[in-house]
Order: sequence, then C-alpha cells, then structure tokens
Amino acid sequence: MTEKVLVLDFGSQYTQLIARRIRELGVFSEIRPFHISIDEIIEIQPKAMILSGGPASVWDDCSPSLTHKILELGIPILGICYGMQLIVHLLGGKVERSQRREFGPSEVEITDYADIFSGIPQKTSVWMSHSDRVLELPAGFSAIASSVNSPIAAIKSDRDKIFGIQFHAEVVHTGYGKEILSNFIFKIAGCDGDWTPKSFADDTIKEIREKVGDSNVVCAISGGVDSSVTALILQRAVWDRLYCFFVDTGLLRLDEGSEVLDVYRKMGLNVIHVDATDRFLRKLRGVEDPEEKRKIIGEEFIRVFEEEASKINKAEFLAQGTLYPDVIESVSVKGPSSKIKSHHNVGGLPEKMKLELVEPLRELFKDEVREVGRELGLRPDILSRHPFPGPGLAIRIIGEVDEDKIRDLRQSDAIFIEELKKAGIYDDIWQAFCVFLPIKTVGVMGDERTYENVIALRAVTSVDGMTADWARIPYDVLETVSVRIINEVKGINRVVYDVSTKPPSTIEWE
Ligand code: XMP
Repeated sequence: MTEKVLVLDFGSQYTQLIARRIRELGVFSEIRPFHISIDEIIEIQPKAMILSGGPASVWDDCSPSLTHKILELGIPILGICYGMQLIVHLLGGKVERSQRREFGPSEVEITDYADIFSGIPQKTSVWMSHSDRVLELPAGFSAIASSVNSPIAAIKSDRDKIFGIQFHAEVVHTGYGKEILSNFIFKIAGCDGDWTPKSFADDTIKEIREKVGDSNVVCAISGGVDSSVTALILQRAVWDRLYCFFVDTGLLRLDEGSEVLDVYRKMGLNVIHVDATDRFLRKLRGVEDPEEKRKIIGEEFIRVFEEEASKINKAEFLAQGTLYPDVIESVSVKGPSSKIKSHHNVGGLPEKMKLELVEPLRELFKDEVREVGRELGLRPDILSRHPFPGPGLAIRIIGEVDEDKIRDLRQSDAIFIEELKKAGIYDDIWQAFCVFLPIKTVGVMGDERTYENVIALRAVTSVDGMTADWARIPYDVLETVSVRIINEVKGINRVVYDVSTKPPSTIEWE
C-alpha cells in the first residue's frame, strides 16, 4: 500500500503547495477538507497528517475545527499557522486574538533542534501570514522557536508526536522550509519516500490492466499534455485495445491537426481522425454569446465522439485526463474560473454511453503529469505545449465565428508562437495566443487608408492557470510580431498587447 500523508485543508491559499512539497520529497500526499471523518482517516491509514493554515480565527463563530479524537490517533501531526493555533486551542492552551496581521518575511530563533528543526540554523528566515498567536502552551507541549512578534513560534509534544509552526514552511521564502517538512515526514513520521512519477506510472498501468480486463477502451485526444499522457498510460496497459479519437473541430491552430496526428502515429497510438469542421462551424453560425458558443461546442463534441466511439465493439471504458486540482474536494483550492466559464470536457459521456471511467491522472498535479509523460517517452514538443482550450479558436474570436476570422486568427497566432520560439521564450510562458477583435480601426499602408480588424496578443505566466500575470515579453519581440502580423495577415492593421492579470481578468477573453 502506498504510504500517504494527509493534508487537512482549513482554507489556506497554500494548501496545494503543502501537498506538492511532500510529493517532491517522494511521499504521496492527499488533500482532504478539515471535516473529514475519523473513520475515513483510519481507513486511509496516513503515516502523518498536516493541518493547513487558513483565514479563520479559532475564536470565530463556526471556525473550522476537528474532533480532538483525531489528535489522539497516534498519527504524527504538524499544524501550520491556523493548524497550530487549532491544536493549541483544542488541547487547552491559549491563542490570543489579534486584529494586527504579521505578513511577509520574518526571522525565528530556534531553541530546540531535536526534531523538526534538526540541522536548521539557529536564526532562520521564515514567511509569516497570521493575525492570532499562541500565548500559552497546552499541557505536555514545549516551545521550540520564537520570533519578535510570536514568542511561541513553534511547538512540540514529544509524547504524541504533535508539532506546530506559526510560519509557512511550504513557501519558498522560508529558507529551510523543505528541510523542516522533510524532518517531519522522515524523522518523525518514519516515511520511506519511495513515491516517484515512475513508480506511479508502473502501479497505475498494473491497476488499469486489472480493472479493464479484456474490454476495449476509448478516449479523446487533443494534442495537449493531459490527454496524451492518459493515452500513453492506457496504451501501456491495454495496447491495441485502446481506441483514440482525434476530433478536428475546425477550431484548431494552424496545421495543428496534421502535426498532432503525425506525432501520435509515430508513438504507435491507434488514432482515429474525425474531421467534424463543417458540423461545428454550422452550429456556430450567428452565435455571439461566449457561453452559448462554449455550450454548443461542448455538446457537439460529445455527439461526434459518441457517434464515433459507438462503432467500437466491446468499448466499456472511457479514459479521461482529469487532474487532481479538478477532483480535490477542498475548501480553498477550487479556482474561480470553473464557475465563471463552462469548461469544455466530455464529462457527460460516461452515463450517456454507459461507459465506465478510467482516470489515470486523477491524483496528479500538472507538473507531475509532465514528469510521467517524460518517463513514458512523450515527445518534448507535446510535453512543453501551451494549454489549449477545448472550444479552441472559437473563444479567441470575439462574437460570431466565421471562416475568414479563423483564417486571420490562425495566421496571426502562428506568427506570434513562431517568434516566441525564435526568441527562446516560449517555454517561460504558460500560455500565449492571439485574439481576433471584430472591431475595425483606421490605419495607413503605403499612401492608402485602411479600415481593418485588430489582433490582441495575450501571453501570461502562471503556475496552474488559476492566477496569472501578463508576460514581460521584450519590446523588440513584440515589435517583430506586430510588424509581421500587420504585413503578412491581410485584414489586420493593428496589434495590441493585453496587460491584464488574472484575477480580475481571465486568461482567455471569452
Ligand atoms: P481562464 O480563461 O478561465 O482559463 O482564465 C484558465 C485556463 O483554462 C483554459 N481553458 C479551458 N480549457 N476547456 C479547457 O480544456 C475549456 O473550455 C477552457 N476554457 C479555458 C485556458 O486556456 C487557461 O489555460
């Protein structure tokens, strides 16, 4: 059984980061909401638990809490920030309510090096983000670090293997954060640390083989990392009983369909190419509203896929590249965009077609998916590909979609991406693309007046797409892109650069 560390989420913006840090140390970690039942914890048998921080005060009415029986299970526990305050509060110590926030870099002085601070310098830089602080320790606890603002900045109870830190060991600004977490999970909790993307892939392939038996599996592949890695795992598990469908919606980038198909075929995947361009464009005719466009494309995609997949005999499973952030049942980590835009996926399919789902990536973060892909030999150009939304270019053309706009957008987009690659900055950017604006502005070309459309360039840096900053692309690269688009794409006489962050804007314009 894979050893696990449970991260109980109390609403911190850093909860996902805690889970990632633990995985980087080679131990599988799982996020669960703070109200998980004690029976579930016993069933999961975690080697350790980490209580995250959170925005509440233990003094608030209805603040998130735990039954204290969880603290008596004998499982090593580390409370971070609110997590530590809660432990103190539940076990009879005193937490002081404060309106003043301590936020940002600080320094703690370590007074006990025996356990989680083993090997850490006496004075060490940390990242604080709290208002309340611990005033009195519960019985059996001792203070193991202090700071100017928090005389009790870390605590321990040797007997129960319960620890607490006021600061955030999971963020990079805490100088020895990784070492502190490592001390906790290896020295205190006795983890082995043998979880790697490779071991994950091997175990998953075995599990899928058992689950699927001799049935056939269908999946939709898009050229993106998630669906490609899903297909590769399935290929290793069931080989030629995997049928992949590549649906060309007519809303793909320039030459994307043929390039992707070529790569997949070279990987030996059994790919069925479905050209449904006309169907999608017909359905989109006259439609301007972004949500309506998204719905139409999502539904049509399901219809096309269903028609094609039902031709496969004995197809009993549908493989999908769902990732961990989509399934975490957490108080803090769901991004706002899932509620703001209806994302395109094949979610409605399994019930409709009576297929059972196989989701090999359900437990992974995006960077781990890339690691697994690398292990399985996925080509670097697919691995490093920027994310591309299911509704494709339709949500990058503001308002109604037609062939002419698609053509102009494709050409512009190809120039932008080519120049980013030439400048060697494509891989530093999370996502870059063009947006077609259906407004006309006046320009002058040669001696002639022009009255043509506008292309907006969008390029963002991000860790997971939930928040994003506009990429600081060098001016000379922007200049080349602008000159090339205006010269080479007929119908475009103006290029603008989008300098909005997410939030409050979103990455895509629709
Ligand atoms: P937004 O525009 O919400 O985008 O900030 C966040 C990320 O999600 C991608 N995106 C989608 N991906 N189907 C997808 O598979 C969709 O319908 C969809 N809409 C947006 C977007 O490209 C960005 O990476």
